[in-house]
Amino acid sequence: MSINLKGFTVLITGGSSGMGFEMAKELLSHGATVVIGARGGPKLDNAYEKLAKEGYDVYAVPLDVRDEESVTNAATWFNEHFNHLDMLINNAGIGTGMESNNPDHQFYDIPVTSFKAIVETNFIGYFLVSRAFVPMMVKNGGGRVVNVSTSTSTMTRRGMIPYGPSRAAAETMSTILSEELHDLGIMVNVICPGGFTETGMTTEAMREFFHQNNLPILTPDVMNKTILFLASPKAEGLTGEKIIGKEFDEWLKSRNISFKD
Ligand SMILES: NC(=O)c1ccc[n+]([C@@H]2O[C@H](COP(=O)([O-])OP(=O)(O)OC[C@H]3O[C@@H](n4cnc5c(N)ncnc54)[C@H](OP(=O)(O)O)[C@@H]3O)[C@@H](O)[C@H]2O)c1
Repeated sequence: MSINLKGFTVLITGGSSGMGFEMAKELLSHGATVVIGARGGPKLDNAYEKLAKEGYDVYAVPLDVRDEESVTNAATWFNEHFNHLDMLINNAGIGTGMESNNPDHQFYDIPVTSFKAIVETNFIGYFLVSRAFVPMMVKNGGGRVVNVSTSTSTMTRRGMIPYGPSRAAAETMSTILSEELHDLGIMVNVICPGGFTETGMTTEAMREFFHQNNLPILTPDVMNKTILFLASPKAEGLTGEKIIGKEFDEWLKSRNISFKD
């Protein structure tokens, strides 16, 4: 373990499965203190137990990113338990399902409730959680925000309404925040896997579609090295970037940065 994150405190939303769980494990395995947030229930409990069993410094907090009161309660709980927050990872998200692969699907087929649920989780949720947790960083004189997004090609592909626009909105918000928070010592960056990734979001139909069309499926640890880098001293001062997990090594090379996990 060359990177030692002891004393580094992280809150990750959507830490109960998929890439959020993997990123939490990666940071924990390097000594960080990590709070995994997700809607309360057996999924969150099981994820917590799995990580706690490894002896990691892990905590779980129920938090529904669509619900302002729930987010505020989680922030209050966090403040009572920790004296600072070093990194906030906005990762909780929901997808569109299989519509994008159905050529007959039109945007007007999307139920308004589904449209709203996706925008509320993937965009407004990032705002609500940042609004509740970033002030802790301001008070502490700095911190790191990482917003999980998707590839630009996915964002703008037909069939991706409203998932794509929800992610586009979250990304432009990240760019604005990276500028607004810069002088407060807070860095804001965006990461994404770089393709379809096997996670809790994956349905059997999706898996089949990818297999049948010989398309690659990424593993949920695809962003682990990227998140470790962003938590490390090497990333100090880096802000306003979008880094693709699958292409992280190339990104490092293009920036002339050497980084070993
Ligand atoms: N999989 C892909 O191909 C892919 C590609 C690009 C980007 N992404 C993005 O990657 C991120 C992680 O997703 P994943 O693919 O790892 O899927 P996942 O395994 O389904 O993880 C999603 C996480 O979000 C949580 N979540 C959902 N709604 C929530 C809410 N209202 N409040 C709090 N937590 C909530 C879920 O926890 P609970 O259900 O326990 O609440 C779960 O922990 C998402 O932002 C997604 O958009 C995924």
